[in-house]
Amino acid sequence: MSGVNDIRSTFLDYFQKNGHEIVASGPLVPRNDPTLMFTNAGMVQFKNVFTGLETRPYDRAVTAQKCVRAGGKHNDLDNVGYTARHHTFFEMMGNFSFGDYFKERAIELAWNLVTREFGLDPKRLLVTVYHTDDDAAGYWKKIAGLSDDRIIRIPTSDNFWAMGDTGPCGPCSEIFYDHGEGIPGGPPGSPDEDGDRFIEIWNLVFMQFEQLTLDERVDLPRPSIDTGMGLERVAAVLQGVHNNYDIDLFQALIRASVEATGVKAEGAQRASHNVIADHLRASSFLIADGVLPSNEGRGYVLRRIMRRAMRHAQLLGAEQPLMWRLVPALVREMGQAYPELVRGEALITETLKLEETRFRKTLARGLTLLSDATGDMGEGDRLDGETAFKLYDTYGFPLDLTQDALRQRGIAVDLEGFDTAMQRQKAEARANWAGSGEAATETVWFSVKDKAGSSDFLGYETEEAEGVVTALVRDGGLVETAGEGEAIAIVTNQTPFYGESGGQVGDTGTIEGEDFAIGVSDTQKKGDGLLVHFGTVTKGTVATGAAVALRVDHARRTRIRANHSATHLLHEALREVLGTHVAQKGSLVAPERLRFDFSHPKPISDEELARIEDIANEIVLQNAPVATRLMAVDDAIEAGAMALFGEKYGDEVRVVSMGTATGGEKNGKTYSLELCGGTHVRATGDIGLVRVVSEGAVASGVRRLEALTGRAARQHLDQQERLLKQSASALKVAAADVPGRLETLMEERRRFERELADARRKLALGGGNGAAADGGAETVAGVNFLGRVVAGIAPKDLKALADEGKASLGSGVAVFVGTSEEGKASVVVGVTADLTGRFSAVDLVRAASAAIGGQGGGGRPDMAQAGGPDGAKADAAVAAVRVAMEG
Ligand code: ALA
Repeated sequence: MSGVNDIRSTFLDYFQKNGHEIVASGPLVPRNDPTLMFTNAGMVQFKNVFTGLETRPYDRAVTAQKCVRAGGKHNDLDNVGYTARHHTFFEMMGNFSFGDYFKERAIELAWNLVTREFGLDPKRLLVTVYHTDDDAAGYWKKIAGLSDDRIIRIPTSDNFWAMGDTGPCGPCSEIFYDHGEGIPGGPPGSPDEDGDRFIEIWNLVFMQFEQLTLDERVDLPRPSIDTGMGLERVAAVLQGVHNNYDIDLFQALIRASVEATGVKAEGAQRASHNVIADHLRASSFLIADGVLPSNEGRGYVLRRIMRRAMRHAQLLGAEQPLMWRLVPALVREMGQAYPELVRGEALITETLKLEETRFRKTLARGLTLLSDATGDMGEGDRLDGETAFKLYDTYGFPLDLTQDALRQRGIAVDLEGFDTAMQRQKAEARANWAGSGEAATETVWFSVKDKAGSSDFLGYETEEAEGVVTALVRDGGLVETAGEGEAIAIVTNQTPFYGESGGQVGDTGTIEGEDFAIGVSDTQKKGDGLLVHFGTVTKGTVATGAAVALRVDHARRTRIRANHSATHLLHEALREVLGTHVAQKGSLVAPERLRFDFSHPKPISDEELARIEDIANEIVLQNAPVATRLMAVDDAIEAGAMALFGEKYGDEVRVVSMGTATGGEKNGKTYSLELCGGTHVRATGDIGLVRVVSEGAVASGVRRLEALTGRAARQHLDQQERLLKQSASALKVAAADVPGRLETLMEERRRFERELADARRKLALGGGNGAAADGGAETVAGVNFLGRVVAGIAPKDLKALADEGKASLGSGVAVFVGTSEEGKASVVVGVTADLTGRFSAVDLVRAASAAIGGQGGGGRPDMAQAGGPDGAKADAAVAAVRVAMEG
């Protein structure tokens, strides 16, 4: 008996032997397709290869692809658990030819695999073909020797496969296994085809067309092959069971669930165990591929799946969160084929535990409300929409969970009433917003949200993705199209562009459609869950509904990542060196630099700064991977994550951790642990280098650091070195001698200044060198008088000159007018003590001040000082004193 893992490897090996490249499964969140919520078939990762947009180094491939069908086209959620073959998550095995072989070889390869490798009895096999496909019918006859009655022609879309409303498509041919007469059911195309007797095991699609729009279909460049074999189905056939949940893989998961709950998988409980096993796979694989539970988009589909399973855990009487305890069983069964499960085990476990813990708080009360509301209802009744909405809004019951809970009693839900209640709540939110004083123009984002829904952010995983334009805003209003040169805001269903938040600036880049292009200069978060790109149409005309390729400016984002991660390292290093009072007060993470404001009462010394920088760079050198987890706020904070005080966080937060502390209390533990929604480097080595370039005060008790990383840091250092070299060459010494040389020069300069001041003073007193306006001492009004105009003497030194002047006169009046380089003048008048009865220095200096355009002056009778703007009149000032003395 072949286990699932053997069947998978038999399939892959068989096609490898036949010249196919084994290609790893693509992620569940498609990067290359704007229209798909989740990867729902093996061909999704090859979509652009079929259409010719992309080439690969091989033209035959084989995969086992993870698929999720829940939400969007191919939505199976409602039935899962109650039927034998519905799953939210399943594996599709397939072989592909990209313009290499076509129908004949595809049929031959398929037939040989099922009959020889899998050893299925050819007599139990029959096939369908599209009703007009004579070629395929002919090959089946020739290769498999099937009689006409076992080649059934189907005229419906059942035998025309399309990935979605658009994309590659073509007629297909399906292989069925007949479980025999003992099982009820009819062959494909018959009225009772849905019975369990004839089971489709393989779909061969002859890819020939690409659906461009609803009514435009073109030929693919080369006819190709895409096949899909559900692994769980074929395993059921090969293991001789009728229900997929009876195959070895599911049995192992159900055993784990039975052990954990102590409830046997029998009767009504069987469906609950099925639901749990199926949803465990979907949830775990989605989380491993970067989807986290949220209230919108993909995250909400995940939450619906998780909560549906969690309700069934409760139905089984589980007292404690159950799902996370089943993860080891899943990793055991599937971890080898899908190593992402092993890598993501911790994240998966924590996310499941957190969601279930949280949901259990409201689940019981919600179920009580539900049973009160439906207590006397029976088959055919309807639960009112208000109650269903209340369950959704207050108790976190996704609508399908409520429907699921009522389904066995045959009770439906009033969906219209539910929608009305939902609309009313949105309208209230809008009214509150409009009344909250925000600019009226911002209300446009409510209309955008209504029209477009939210945007999925893909930017943690990728910087390029495809999307669909869901709204365009120009001049504050919604528009359908925008043409070249117009400035617009553009919203897409998903985007890799980061919207400015948490200090990190918004991304820039390009958005391109078939014949238009938009340059994005900023991305902002708006309203509730919208990511809005702002930019200008650079080519053509963009219209709502258009498919686009979104590309973040990679070089810029790389620098932003490095600066953001470096901010975390500096934050922790600051706390380590300065103390834990250091708290973030603001930050800016831009491509050019990072800025970090924090509480600290005094300047940081050079030694402290050097240590901070050193520590951050040591963690850079560890080249430690940067890990991201989703946690409950309280748990994150308990684990030591730094959160911003007063910041409002959702219930769940992203926690970013990096590096290992080497020493101190945290020795051996994670170095930096912060709540953060930003984008970071993959490993700390990507930061390259951290260089603090400035430190200063911004407000009382708040300091600011500015730092550079990577190339910018290196360029900064280069520039510093160039300056040093220039200085050394100007000083004609080696770089190492620059400080010593400067010290000597400064000392010399101080000495020269002293000598110069001395010489000037002597000159001023001695006169006769042209600096003097008059000759030596003279007699004015009968007393000795010394009047001088002096250049280059600081006002503060004039007083000393006046004192010396007075001393040399013995008895008399000394006047010094100093002129500055800017053309201003200062004047000092000194009167010896014996003469202050006749002359007041204050009166005399006022006379001098008037001459140089001053406002008077002041001082004492023996010494007064004044200034004025008009240095050219210095001589007149001396003359004015003479006149005043002669009175
Ligand atoms: N793409 C085809 C399918 O999903 C094979 O059935």
